[in-house]
Amino acid sequence: MSLATRIKSWFASQQPEQQKGEEENMSVKLAIVYYSQTGTNYQMAKWAEEAATEAGAEVKLLRVEELAPAAVIEGQPAWKQHLEDTKDVPVAKPEDLEWADAIIFSSPTRFGNVASQIKQFMDTTGGLWAQGKLANKVVSAMSSAANPHGGQEQTITAIYTTMMHWGAIIAAPGYTDASLFAAGGNPYGTSVTIDQEGKMVEDVQAAVKHQAKRTVQVGGFVKTGFGQ
Ligand SMILES: Cc1cc2nc3c(=O)[nH]c(=O)nc-3n(C[C@H](O)[C@H](O)[C@H](O)COP(=O)(O)O)c2cc1C
Repeated sequence: MSLATRIKSWFASQQPEQQKGEEENMSVKLAIVYYSQTGTNYQMAKWAEEAATEAGAEVKLLRVEELAPAAVIEGQPAWKQHLEDTKDVPVAKPEDLEWADAIIFSSPTRFGNVASQIKQFMDTTGGLWAQGKLANKVVSAMSSAANPHGGQEQTITAIYTTMMHWGAIIAAPGYTDASLFAAGGNPYGTSVTIDQEGKMVEDVQAAVKHQAKRTVQVGGFVKTGFGQ
């Protein structure tokens, strides 16, 4: 076989791999970072994962580290059970944010603010922030609370405040889908109320899925250069 033929045949054999590589590079990498004590934000994160995967994203579902003392958790069966049920979910690291093109945060409302576990994780991102590595990440946030007016939007906008310091691009849902007009639909980011048994009062699955797909879509715009 001549050298030219050998080179041609090598190129032919490489072509599918190259194309595959290009396609992989174009898919949006999405990190879904949540904290959950009793499963609500975990469920929302799972719905987001499902929708984003369906939208073609490469997804990492990550929980932030639990910081509450073991003795406190021990005294609360639902909390202990949830921690046990999700022990195999990987714990979020700052490197996961560096990896991601887009990030969805989900946090329970705590006194009208984010859970301290989420805040602690955010406070470990100073190194990446200082290097400008969090700029242009496409971000979106979700929350839950026990009271319909218990501060869901405050929690979501508190997350966005940190994201603004990063120079991230906030992909809020706005009113971009019919699910936003249903109970739990929230232009800031999906939020849900839970009852005394810890069950979701509103059906927010469609709103979560729309938010996740929109985050992936905007992530794609930024990654590929929208309009070029
Ligand atoms: C310390 C603490 C503070 C809370 N603060 C609020 C609050 O300000 N407003 C509210 O409606 N619910 C509040 N809740 C209820 C939580 O928001 C609710 O348990 C949570 O959204 C459930 O999410 P999870 O199942 O993912 O843990 C609080 C709960 C705890 C433990």
